[in-house]
Amino acid sequence: MIDLIQKNLEKSAIILKNAKHATAFTGAGISVESGIPPFRGDGGIWGKYDPKILELGYFLENPEESWIVIKEIFYEFFNVAKPNYAHLGLADLEKRGIIKAVITQNIDNLHQEAGSKNVIEFHGNSKILICTNCSHKEKVENVNLEKLPPKCPKCKSLMKPDFIFFGEGIPQIAYQKSIFETKNADVFLLTGTSGSVVPASYLPYDAKKNGAIIIEINPEKSAYTNEITDYFLKGKAAEITKLLIEKINLL
Ligand code: APR
Ligand code: ZN
Repeated sequence: MIDLIQKNLEKSAIILKNAKHATAFTGAGISVESGIPPFRGDGGIWGKYDPKILELGYFLENPEESWIVIKEIFYEFFNVAKPNYAHLGLADLEKRGIIKAVITQNIDNLHQEAGSKNVIEFHGNSKILICTNCSHKEKVENVNLEKLPPKCPKCKSLMKPDFIFFGEGIPQIAYQKSIFETKNADVFLLTGTSGSVVPASYLPYDAKKNGAIIIEINPEKSAYTNEITDYFLKGKAAEITKLLIEKINLL
């Protein structure tokens, strides 16, 4: 097993170093070592909270109840998280011209905080709130969350986090950019995603169809591992990314 990981690490390092257009695709698992739990699996958020508070219809009808939970999860608990080596490593690979874009399903802003520039947020961002009436956007740090639900400074209507709730569509620009980065990728690096939420989960299959080599970092097998993954790097995101970059540096 250890030999296989070493072999896969070496191969992956060579492939990334020679890549013309590598794209990273990340999920909740990349932020686990930053202290943010995943949604599913052991210790997952949906084991503790009822996901109905993020259903658009439920939220609009029960804004105060939903906001109390949203505040606890996303603005108290998540707020202290800092990028870990997996985020930093992807930012470093972008600086070196190896990775062209990070498509993330995460809403935690940690890729940007790590220094990644071309970050495509497939599901939006929790650090921004948007008015449900006039679409005015406001940084959450400028909004008083003591009194819930927060109201729009322009029109006094209900504000929601600017990430997509269940029942909402993918932001168009993020979607178009993701398709572009997927089509153009010769290497697709998956980190910490279970591959269970559509339509984001289709992107790696599209990349594979377009000829990309699929490298996957995950401590567990995902929906992709036996289907499309070429090189499976079994382990935690921060640890494996560090090993991978060490190997690239030796080339
Ligand atoms: N390093 C890397 N991967 C990890 C780690 C770790 N330390 N710990 C767990 N994982 C893996 C798990 O094995 C799993 O495959 O991360 C994955 C997390 O899966 P999900 O919780 O399903 O997260 P994700 O794939 O991002 O979910 C997609 O679901 O609820 C929605 O919108 C939400 O964006 C989210 C989407
Ligand atoms: Zn408004």
